[in-house]
Amino acid sequence: MSTLSELCQQILTCTKCEVLSKNRTRVVPGEGPENAEIMLIGEGPGFHEDQQGRPFVGQAGMYLEQLLASINLKRQQVYIANVIKCRPPGNRDPLPSEIQNCHHWLQAQIELIRPRMIVTLGRYSMAQFFPGKTISKIHGTAQKRDGIIYFAMYHPAAALHQQSLRQAIEDDMLKIPALLAESESIVQDSPQPEQLSML
Ligand code: URA
Repeated sequence: MSTLSELCQQILTCTKCEVLSKNRTRVVPGEGPENAEIMLIGEGPGFHEDQQGRPFVGQAGMYLEQLLASINLKRQQVYIANVIKCRPPGNRDPLPSEIQNCHHWLQAQIELIRPRMIVTLGRYSMAQFFPGKTISKIHGTAQKRDGIIYFAMYHPAAALHQQSLRQAIEDDMLKIPALLAESESIVQDSPQPEQLSML
């Protein structure tokens, strides 16, 4: 596989999860520029995403766009993907087997995009990159590994409806520009995961 659009074409035909592939309207591979510096990773498609085949197009997506605007970014400048690419029936939580089945697609996207920063949205996405951690403890913190900054945030859908999380997600988003600027000044990656100073 050589390009991101070829990869997305392959994702569209995936039938590895029987239940998800039979129940979906559309697969939602992800969208954004192949050379995006920032990759945002949510949980999985909801109703509207399943209808349109695009990530974060419902209420949570509108809020995500506002959050991006707070750091002068448009959604077209970032790559937006999900841990799983098909909507679970009734918007239930993704099963461990579904996350496992979809893992190689997400990894392939990351390898092709090679973003400078991966922002995890919600606990399912966080669990992929910060195993064993708790979102209430690590949201708003970053780690640099193999040249990529991993930054954990609450899910915009959760933050929309809970005032305390809303303040946290808005504050966390504002940390991103400084983290990117700081990592630019770090020449060498250390072998140990590097804790960036904004923890
Ligand atoms: N929530 C997600 O996690 N992903 C989407 O694409 C939409 C809502």
